[in-house]
Amino acid sequence: MNARIIELPKILDQRGNLTFIEEENHIPFKIERTFWIYDVPGGENRGGHAYRETEEFIVALSGSFTVQLDNGHERQEFHLNRSYYGLYVPRMVWREMTNFSTNSLALVLASTPYSTEDYIRDYSIFKNLV
Ligand code: TYD
Repeated sequence: MNARIIELPKILDQRGNLTFIEEENHIPFKIERTFWIYDVPGGENRGGHAYRETEEFIVALSGSFTVQLDNGHERQEFHLNRSYYGLYVPRMVWREMTNFSTNSLALVLASTPYSTEDYIRDYSIFKNLV
């Protein structure tokens, strides 16, 4: 699986730290959309699908959560809990987001505009395609 953690620049400062993302330097795709997931009630999960084309870059801007990935052949789990690390998720990877801490904030950069046709929400259909 080509999913991987990408470390972002971290400007340490006594006034507060700063991290930034530049599409050309840090993200392996052109950013077409940004969304964020917040106010997740305790015990709730997000995701539970794959995308045919969309690639994503996921950052825990605040708090922590777990991203479980499955490309049909292997599974990997990443616990995101620092705002200067992001997880690159390639296309055709089944993902679940779990273990959201209180007040966690998940930033997601995506390579496509939102399209319902890009979603695969049935795991058996996903397994047949990979
Ligand atoms: P969904 O991707 O299923 O959420 P998650 O994978 O985090 O559980 O999206 C939830 C709803 O939000 C769904 O009705 C589609 C809508 N949505 C948009 O309209 N635009 C977007 O960019 C995203 C990500 C979701």
